[in-house]
Amino acid sequence: MSYFKRHLFVCCNQRNDPNRKSCGDNHTGDAALDFLRGHAKNMGLIGPGKLRISQSGCLGRCQEGPALVIYPEGRWYTYANEADLQEILDCDLVRGEAVSRLLLDTENP
Ligand code: FES
Repeated sequence: MSYFKRHLFVCCNQRNDPNRKSCGDNHTGDAALDFLRGHAKNMGLIGPGKLRISQSGCLGRCQEGPALVIYPEGRWYTYANEADLQEILDCDLVRGEAVSRLLLDTENP
């Protein structure tokens, strides 16, 4: 059994390059990380045997982002606002159900 049951990585990479999109543009990734950590903690989801939420550098899906990924399932998500993040918390992280409308394609191009 792994130390954490699930691990969520939130891309917070900031390039500050108008020609290359990044998840951290306008601090989007940082705000998402703070929202997810705060709400997941209040919901009792965080800790050994449960969930870990980590800041990540570029996850390699910049054009589809802002991006986050949940392991071990390998579910990739994008999000547009706090309501999307809350839905990921409620559906995926609490009930284990993917939020299909926010999923990124998992197939290789
Ligand atoms: S900058 Fe977020 S996936 Fe590349």
